Amino acid sequence: MTLRRPPSPRMVLDNVSCMRNAQQILRHVNVSVHDGSAIVLTGTNGSGKTTLLRMLAGFTKPSAGQVLWNGHDITKSGVFQQYKLQLNWLSLKDAMKDRFTVLDNVQWFEVLEGKQGKSLPALELMGLGRLANEKTRMLSMGQRKRVQLARLLAMDRPIWLLDEPSVALDDEGVKLLEFIIADHRKKGGIVFVATHLPIKMEDATYLRLPPRFPRRMTFVDMLDRADIE
Ligand SMILES: Nc1ncnc2c1ncn2[C@@H]1O[C@H](COP(=O)(O)OP(=O)(O)O)[C@@H](O)[C@H]1O
Ligand SMILES: [Mg+2]
Repeated sequence: MTLRRPPSPRMVLDNVSCMRNAQQILRHVNVSVHDGSAIVLTGTNGSGKTTLLRMLAGFTKPSAGQVLWNGHDITKSGVFQQYKLQLNWLSLKDAMKDRFTVLDNVQWFEVLEGKQGKSLPALELMGLGRLANEKTRMLSMGQRKRVQLARLLAMDRPIWLLDEPSVALDDEGVKLLEFIIADHRKKGGIVFVATHLPIKMEDATYLRLPPRFPRRMTFVDMLDRADIE
């Protein structure tokens, strides 16, 4: 009988630490990420969720440890050229041109990928089919977020880095987000999600980042204190 070796992880965060503004934000993070995985980064505001995603996107380098993709350090230039083509990045900045149509704002990204035909169906799935030819400035915050989700689908890259993807979405929007994440994972895609809001994902690995500063009394604590009249 031959023993099959377990597949190697697609990505490994190997004892990763990260600085921001000369301060250490992340310390010794270790995670193995296989195809189809979801890694959920949670933690208070300022705990380093966005910092970790930015590092995975290659905007900053780890101050110690390494991020491996297919066993190779992503900061090596030859590797990074390949690795960055795997990434889909969704952040609070939506990189949308208000003067152009909703469809344009998705299609450009698709065309840059050398792909075609997915933008309109993606917008339709996001419930924005009827707004495809409207100017983007007409959209609400939640609708703009749905356009960003449509972009993920149109670009169709394997590793999604999602920074607070459910902010501004209504209940149906959150369900759509949960659906496309599950579908992407079924196809072997990987999802890193930084969120402080609940997003349902099966068998996700939760990485809770510790708060960076000792907690002080907040305004909310003061309101809760019975002895303050
Ligand atoms: N552009 C920046 N320059 C310097 N420091 C930053 C910048 N953005 C965030 N930080 C600091 O890095 C820490 C982690 O921030 P961030 O990763 O954005 O946290 P989170 O996403 O968990 O709310 C915070 O203390 C924040 O003040
Ligand atoms: Mg953040």
